[in-house]
Amino acid sequence: MTANNMEELVALCKRRGFIFQTNEIYGGLQGLYDYGPLGVELKNNLKTSWWSSMVYERDDVEGLDSSILTHPDVLKYSGHEETFTDPLVDCKECKSRSRADHIEDGKCPSCGSKDLTEPRPFNLMFKTNIGPIDDGSSFAYLRPETAQQIFTNLKNVIDTTSRTLPFGVAQIGKAFRNEITPRNFIFRVREFEQMELEFFVEPGTDEEWHDQWVKDRVNWWEKQGIKKKNLELVDIPKEDLSHYSKKTVDIMYRFPHGLEELEGVANRTDFDIGSHTKNQKDFDIKAKVKQNSDSVIKLAVQDKINNTWTIPYVIEPSAGVDRGFLAVLNEAYKTEDLGDGKQRTVLSLKPHLSPIKASVIPLKRNNKDLVSTALKIKSSLQALGMGRILFDNSGNIGKSYRRHDEVGTPICLTVDFETLEDQKVTARDRDTMAQERVSILDLPKYIKKILL
Ligand code: GAP
Repeated sequence: MTANNMEELVALCKRRGFIFQTNEIYGGLQGLYDYGPLGVELKNNLKTSWWSSMVYERDDVEGLDSSILTHPDVLKYSGHEETFTDPLVDCKECKSRSRADHIEDGKCPSCGSKDLTEPRPFNLMFKTNIGPIDDGSSFAYLRPETAQQIFTNLKNVIDTTSRTLPFGVAQIGKAFRNEITPRNFIFRVREFEQMELEFFVEPGTDEEWHDQWVKDRVNWWEKQGIKKKNLELVDIPKEDLSHYSKKTVDIMYRFPHGLEELEGVANRTDFDIGSHTKNQKDFDIKAKVKQNSDSVIKLAVQDKINNTWTIPYVIEPSAGVDRGFLAVLNEAYKTEDLGDGKQRTVLSLKPHLSPIKASVIPLKRNNKDLVSTALKIKSSLQALGMGRILFDNSGNIGKSYRRHDEVGTPICLTVDFETLEDQKVTARDRDTMAQERVSILDLPKYIKKILL
């Protein structure tokens, strides 16, 4: 189980239309990738699964979808302007730039020269101009994390939902970082998606909630098909913590290139909410909280029974969609010997993540009766709303089965000449390759059982 190396996954992604290099026809852009016809399905399924577990299956979380372009003051007061940097080293020989912590034995990773500059901080945020005049006076940042927009919307969410502590706000969306050395396929890129929850709690209950969220998140990854033995928890040492964090536990996954961060669960304390609040003009949250005055309290949370105000602590499970995609793909990937020197590649994805849920295949592509029966089955299954059901009219059953094994389709339904007589199709299971005859009338129940 799992791929032998990253190259196998890259090749599969390109061959079958999961992932393409951005603007490849112009030579590509480093650290940027596009998700193809199957990639977008798998990615959406992963995001839907996260959203269901975070928002629908709980009763203490609301959703949000906010802007990517962010007011510079937000990222000034969040500390990102000053501290969201990586240490950059220049090679004086070949002029390439590297992250200082990616340099081994003091040698340039490109040319091997030891003639390197001292590390200097390099801010990872992308800036862009707002409005028609490009004189640098009016700019915005492309958000480096989705979290800040959740913090700045805290009062809006509370006012419109009447939430009290503890509760969370979930968001899935793009984040941008001008990584010095993007690498390892979609693992470290410059434009990616995050699935972030900011969970607001009473100060003093934060450590307990933090422990709980680490457990919940590991459980969720296991439900996505990640084996426990390929996950490790790492307590980030104090000196490596982000500027906002009191404690962070990274959920690490054994990627093809090594054990690396899949998700971080941070205890952000009241750093962000306190900072945004304090820094609003003429506004001293700590003083106002003491006075219990609500007129100027912007981001504090009110306990309506006791009429007290709290600047909540924040527990933040923050996962990368792209890294999650890579992890579930790697876990699902396997090759099997079929005898006679033949092999098959199978993506044993959990059915809820599979890009295609079922494929309906007429045995012969030119036979009108087979084709129309297959199309009717496709429409009726599609109407169940369980994801993409494909009408596959390739006319070569063997090839279709191989292709669907490789892209993780859990079930193939073949419409043959017997179907026209007995109203049954041949259902073939991706993982066992076992085949059985199933009545067309029973297909909705049959498919639901496999997918749900
Ligand atoms: N709001 C907290 C935060 O952004 P982070 O550890 O910097 O924390 C969270 O990022 C997650 O986002 C990471 O665990 C990772 O999965 C993903 N991520 C971060 N940088 C990335 C990059 N350059 N490419 C792909 N995913 C990235």
